[in-house]
Amino acid sequence: MNPATPGPHQRPDNLWSSRTAFILAAIGSAVGLGNIWKFPYITGENGGGAFVLVYLACIAVVGVPVLIAEVTIGRRGARSPVASMRSLTDADGTRRGWRIIGWNGIVGAFFLLSFYSVIGGWSILYIFKTAAGLFSGADADAVAGIFGAMLASPWSLLIWHSVFMALVILIVGRGIRAGMEKAINMLMPLLFLLLVVMVAYAATTGHFGRAVSFMFSPDFSKLSTESMLIALGHAAFTLSIGIGVMMSYGSYLPQHVNIARTAITIALMDTLVALLAGLAIFPLVFANGLEPGSGPGLIFVTLPLAFGHMTGGTVFGTVFFALLLIAALTSAISLLEPVTEWLEEHKGISRGKSALTGGLGIWAAGIGTVLSFNAWKDFFPLGFIPIFEGKTVFDLLDFLVSNVMLPVGGLAIALFAGWAIKRDGLDQAIGLKGPLYTAFMFVLRFLTPAGIAVVFLYNLV
Ligand code: PHE
Repeated sequence: MNPATPGPHQRPDNLWSSRTAFILAAIGSAVGLGNIWKFPYITGENGGGAFVLVYLACIAVVGVPVLIAEVTIGRRGARSPVASMRSLTDADGTRRGWRIIGWNGIVGAFFLLSFYSVIGGWSILYIFKTAAGLFSGADADAVAGIFGAMLASPWSLLIWHSVFMALVILIVGRGIRAGMEKAINMLMPLLFLLLVVMVAYAATTGHFGRAVSFMFSPDFSKLSTESMLIALGHAAFTLSIGIGVMMSYGSYLPQHVNIARTAITIALMDTLVALLAGLAIFPLVFANGLEPGSGPGLIFVTLPLAFGHMTGGTVFGTVFFALLLIAALTSAISLLEPVTEWLEEHKGISRGKSALTGGLGIWAAGIGTVLSFNAWKDFFPLGFIPIFEGKTVFDLLDFLVSNVMLPVGGLAIALFAGWAIKRDGLDQAIGLKGPLYTAFMFVLRFLTPAGIAVVFLYNLV
């Protein structure tokens, strides 16, 4: 190992207590709105099983290598992304320009959480709406009306965004072991349990067979170049790579943990959850003759409509939105972590105050997203630039983070770890020996950057 100087976080009492604790936390970060909301509908739109195959290849060629690289950088630096990058570039005498990776992480996590939290707030509100039986027997217009009314009310969006952020701040402010680990140890088993309950419900009451063939029978004719790029972009988003989150989590990782094996476990579990989410959702959609390719509205409009017409729909609908909330919450805490870690280090303020300060800043930034659905819905700040035409504040933030900061961060991390970082001990740190390490480095140095560069350019044009 070649850590610059031992980092402040590598105190034995401030690390994840075990490999399992880290794995659960990282899975919690990876499994989020991306798995439960986005993966099912993009699979449906892009050729089902064929898309799943391409997606798995992207996870292997881009997702896992960057995840390994990011966690390794974090553990070596043992500080916030900004300070870790500084200490590694200093120690190795590499170019200072690489430090942008750290800043990209803090700023990206800040803005991603600002809108992620607003959508997290929707899931809290939908728990109450579903539990109150608001959707039971409702027709399509009524369900769409409920969703529209929620978006039209800035106060209601603001309140639930605030409640969601308060939960995140409370958990992160208590620290790695007392806050994050405790919450994650409770929430992750619950998430798996609720997911299994939902799949069982879908299997017994919905059109399970149709869902299975929809998701797994490959239709290569629907697989366009664009589908492949969507798969690649989603592979990065769903594994939480590119914006410092996994670097921060890696900074609390004990030295003995094998990073390669751990990263593969995380990727497999994340994929499993995404597939199970599809198996929980599509049987209900088909059973009610609804549209599987209904895009972003799938969860908040199509699904409530389905629940409204099924036996046990009120109970299981509530369970479903609780599941969505847990998935969003465990991702959100991972997004506040890099910002908190940075404030703690750079401003010398306590953990609790750092989480509160960072969280309040993010909360305030989230107001831009809240207003994007109502008062500012016709406000297009960069509308004079052709690619930003018709984009609200929320659309712009989403574009900036998902299509720019995430891929650029992932690319820079692959290049830094592949070409710039000092190699001695890297094989040991990663936990790969001989030909496996050589093969991994080949992928990381050539295939991963090439893949990300193609998606990035495509999304920009
Ligand atoms: N992986 C999360 C999801 O699928 C989103 C996320 C991206 C979280 C980047 C943290 C960092 O919803």
